Amino acid sequence: MAEHAAAIARYTAAIQGVTTRLLERLRPLVLAELGLLPALEQLCAEWQESCPELSITFQVAEEAEASLLSLNETAALALYRGLQECLANVYRHAAGARAVEVRLFRSAEGLVLSIRDDGPGFAEGARFGHGLLGLAERLRAVGGRLVCGAETQAGAVIRLTVPCERSSSAPCPAVSS
Ligand SMILES: Nc1ncnc2c1ncn2[C@@H]1O[C@H](COP(=O)(O)OP(=O)(O)OP(=O)(O)O)[C@@H](O)[C@H]1O
Ligand SMILES: [Mg+2]
Repeated sequence: MAEHAAAIARYTAAIQGVTTRLLERLRPLVLAELGLLPALEQLCAEWQESCPELSITFQVAEEAEASLLSLNETAALALYRGLQECLANVYRHAAGARAVEVRLFRSAEGLVLSIRDDGPGFAEGARFGHGLLGLAERLRAVGGRLVCGAETQAGAVIRLTVPCERSSSAPCPAVSS
């Protein structure tokens, strides 16, 4: 009996080791080493280099920078993976697009990463594939959400929202003794 228990413990430790290594590979080094903002900038620069016909701009609102400090790792990873997916989607689905605007800003809901292109926009009846479904799932898991194609007549716009802490100057709730 004790032998079986020891064997189970060994297998469990081995599986945990594999899972940990797998997770390390899934989490991009650039995000861990540089942080979210430079990682997003780098993604835009890489896509710009491979797609010179597109003009990819990246703007960060001042108040968004402060919010980045309170962002947890999973939410940061969701935004990073989200930008990767959305830029790949522009390349694959936005034929004829000339410009992509990537913006990071605060809204009442949290931190928003918006990706807008001037291609043909979402086709009528377009359905989510694995890319946007997986992204929506990642965002939901951190209390955020994905909105596609809203507020625009031309092109496609995708908004990735993740919740974040209010600024530290926000009033504390009253404490009763
Ligand atoms: N920037 C865009 N412009 C126009 N249509 C888009 C754009 N991004 C996504 N779409 C539409 O939304 C659909 C769903 O995108 P999604 O990323 O989920 O799947 P996919 O790119 O087709 O496949 P994959 O699962 O490999 O990502 C696309 O098939 C396409 O029709
Ligand atoms: Mg896709």
